[in-house]
Amino acid sequence: MVDLKIISGTDRPNSNAMRVSTYVKGLYQKEGIDTDIIDLQDFPLSEVAGGRYGEELPAVDTFVDAAVTADGLVIVCPEYNGGYPGILKMFIDYLPFPNSLDKKPIALIGEANGAFGAMRAVEQLQQVFGYRNAHIYPERVFISRINENFDDEKGIKNEFQQQLLISQIEGFPPFIRNLQKNESLVSGS
Ligand SMILES: Cc1cc2nc3c(=O)[nH]c(=O)nc-3n(C[C@H](O)[C@H](O)[C@H](O)COP(=O)(O)O)c2cc1C
Repeated sequence: MVDLKIISGTDRPNSNAMRVSTYVKGLYQKEGIDTDIIDLQDFPLSEVAGGRYGEELPAVDTFVDAAVTADGLVIVCPEYNGGYPGILKMFIDYLPFPNSLDKKPIALIGEANGAFGAMRAVEQLQQVFGYRNAHIYPERVFISRINENFDDEKGIKNEFQQQLLISQIEGFPPFIRNLQKNESLVSGS
């Protein structure tokens, strides 16, 4: 069983990212995979005010630990001003460097009201995770026009986008397992 965490990539209350994360969690459950959602609304922001990089911050360590120990991450990311939300960068910047993202499998789902479904935000994340040597799952999902195009029970109304989401959910766990297999062959463990 793979340990998957879904990151709801904003601290905005009642966010679409959380709606999508909850729906995605349900789809993984149907595949027999239990996941937890990491809600960035709960990031202990007051602990990092003033810039506490490199300091001992137990509340932050506890919060990020679920992502650090996970076999893979699914990131649900809205687009804010042509990029990804600041809280998501804060979360990434407080992940231990370099090991926490090194070779970490990551699947990306963008959501936005615009026509491109947070493509800019997702591609910026790919750049950051590429720098951190993560293994990005190639099948990305972009949910455009989220306010009209998403139903909490049925998912994405646009059939093609829904098919891409299902395909990502079916393909990501085997991607992780194959990487784990290759890793153990290389390390001989
Ligand atoms: C601060 C802010 C900036 C936004 N900028 C964009 C944008 O650049 N492009 C876009 O398509 N939508 C933009 N939107 C709309 C959001 O992408 C859309 O409402 C999304 O569903 C919000 O995600 P959330 O509910 O998960 O916070 C913006 C929304 C906010 C709150």
